[in-house]
Amino acid sequence: MEKKKLKKLITRIFVKHKLSNKHALICAEALVNAELVGAPSHGLSRLKMYCDRVNKKVINPKPKIKIKNISKSITHIDADNSIGFVAADIGIKKAIENAKKSGIGLVGIKNSGHYGLSGYYAEQAVKKNFIAFVFTNAPPAIAPHGAIKSLFGTNPICFGTPTNSKVPFILDTSVSMINRGKIRVAAKTGKKIPSGVALDKFGKPTSDAKKALEGVQLPIAGFRGSGLAWMVDILSGVFTGGNHGGKVKDPFDDFTGPQNIGHLFIVMKANIFVKNFNKRIKENIKRIKKLPKLKGIKEILYPGQNKFKRFRYNLKKEIKINEDIKKDLKVLENFINWKCYIK
Ligand SMILES: NC(=O)c1ccc[n+]([C@@H]2O[C@H](COP(=O)([O-])OP(=O)(O)OC[C@H]3O[C@@H](n4cnc5c(N)ncnc54)[C@H](O)[C@@H]3O)[C@@H](O)[C@H]2O)c1
Repeated sequence: MEKKKLKKLITRIFVKHKLSNKHALICAEALVNAELVGAPSHGLSRLKMYCDRVNKKVINPKPKIKIKNISKSITHIDADNSIGFVAADIGIKKAIENAKKSGIGLVGIKNSGHYGLSGYYAEQAVKKNFIAFVFTNAPPAIAPHGAIKSLFGTNPICFGTPTNSKVPFILDTSVSMINRGKIRVAAKTGKKIPSGVALDKFGKPTSDAKKALEGVQLPIAGFRGSGLAWMVDILSGVFTGGNHGGKVKDPFDDFTGPQNIGHLFIVMKANIFVKNFNKRIKENIKRIKKLPKLKGIKEILYPGQNKFKRFRYNLKKEIKINEDIKKDLKVLENFINWKCYIK
């Protein structure tokens, strides 16, 4: 489907689910962006889930978001259980505004929900020549090192910096071997997942996506990844006032209450310490790219380069929508029998 048309359709669906036009458009843009950067597991495949959560009153479509400025550079936001996209949109904009004033902007958000891709927010700061860190916690998926029960989310770590070129450096990575969205998509489409990324509920390695969802995902790099997941839980949850320690509810399966996810945005002027940051980052990347390469490697990429390429390529094409999602869109758009559909 053509992008503009799709954006309009998603906006209309969110408006039907009682979001304001402005908020619906913020959500539509984030979902279309996920499709364009080649992350469909965080795009349209989640639209029904967000709408279900509004219908079940665990996402507040008309939040009264409270923004408390603690100092020129620090802001605390209570998102009033808004959809995550809206809270994060306000959060990153506020962090940029604070950084413009004082060199560094720190924004903590509580009472939010799933906001999609961290890199989408980091990019907004990087485009304005800021360095950014973005953190969010997520529902239990990873077993802490040594445990057989999931507690940490796939808790992405995201760092972005300007590169003195059109292509931003965006390291945006889950701390699980693969992100949960990919496992969900595999479970839905009956595909296997790679070995070594998950255990079943009995603690045995599995490549069956459904068994992996019932069991635990493995963190990257053993106890190191487990430590990083823990760090993100502390920064996003403990620090901001959001849920933490395994209390974030699964957005697909648990409608017993709002998620109360926490996010943290740290935005810094790139030239706080050195006037010639742009020249230095260019030199840094150049040196790394010039290294001798392994056999079969044409170019050493920096994080974000691959996504940028995909984005540019996909921008010229229509967005492919699979049959299951088409069905969701039809039901959500027309709201046909939505009361029985949400059961
Ligand atoms: N909101 C949530 O709760 C939540 C939870 C988990 C993940 N996510 C999002 O899911 C997305 C996907 O996460 P992921 O872990 O699957 O990412 P990924 O494995 O696709 O990529 C991780 C990072 O590695 C970089 N990369 C990939 N190939 C590279 C190469 N050849 N050379 C250099 N760098 C390379 C990418 O640019 C990216 O920065 C992220 O945007 C993340 O924010 C969101």
